[in-house]
Amino acid sequence: MTPTKDGDEDPSPEPSNETVEDGTYPHELLPRELEIQVLAFVRIVWPDALVGDERFRSRMWDVPPPTHFVRSVGDLLVSHAQVFDLEFAGDEGTVRIGGVGAVMTYPQFRREGHGSAVMRRAAEHIEAVDDVGVLFCAESNVPFYSGLGWSRLEPGRVVVRGAMPDDVVMAIGDPDRVPTPLRLDWSW
Ligand SMILES: CC(C)(COP(=O)(O)OP(=O)(O)OC[C@H]1O[C@@H](n2cnc3c(N)ncnc32)[C@H](O)[C@@H]1OP(=O)(O)O)[C@@H](O)C(=O)NCCC(=O)NCCS
Repeated sequence: MTPTKDGDEDPSPEPSNETVEDGTYPHELLPRELEIQVLAFVRIVWPDALVGDERFRSRMWDVPPPTHFVRSVGDLLVSHAQVFDLEFAGDEGTVRIGGVGAVMTYPQFRREGHGSAVMRRAAEHIEAVDDVGVLFCAESNVPFYSGLGWSRLEPGRVVVRGAMPDDVVMAIGDPDRVPTPLRLDWSW
C-alpha cells in the first residue's frame, strides 16, 4: 500500500495479473526501466553474453535496432522478446531474417502464458516484415518453441564465426528461405 500525504493508506490494490499490459517498442522507445530489467536478466541467466569489455554493458544491443515485445505490470518487467530485422544474400536475392533473442519471463511469472504471448507477437512481426524467423535455444526449450510453430533447422544450416553453434537453431515461416549455410559473425 502507498502512504498518502495525510498519512492515510491508499486502498488501491497491489498489481495483479489483470494489470499485465502488452507493449511493442521500437528500440529507441523502450522505457529505460524495462531495458535495465532485460539486461539484469541477461547478466544473471546468460553471463557468457557479457564478458570482457561487455561486462560493463548498460545498454541493450542496438545494431541494428531491434523491436521489443514486452509484457509488464507498470514498470515491472514480466516477459520480453526482441526481433532484429536482418538482411542476408540468398540464392534468389535478399532474404530478410527476423532474429529473435532475449526471450525471457521473470521466474515469478512463468507457466502463465506470458512467454507465449510475447513470442506470438514477435511471430506476427516476422510474418509482416521478414521472410523467415530464426532463433537459437537450449535443447530444453525446444518444446516451448515447437508449441508456438517453430521448427528445428538441421545441424550445419547455420554457421557462427566458422563453427556450428552449440545451441539448437529454430525457424518459423519457410525454412527453405534460410540461405544454406547461413554464415553469421554473431548470434542473437
Ligand atoms: C522459456 C520461457 C521464456 C518460457 O516462458 P513462460 O512465460 O513460462 O512460457 P509460457 O507460460 O507461455 O509457456 C507456454 C508453454 O510452454 C511450456 N513451457 C514453458 N517453458 C518450457 C520449457 N522450458 N520446457 C518445456 N515446456 C515449457 C509451458 O508449460 C506451456 O505449456 P502449456 O501451454 O501446455 O502449459 C521461460 O521459462 C524463461 O524465461 N526461461 C529462462 C530463459 C530462457 O531460457 N529463455 C529462452 C532463451 S532461448
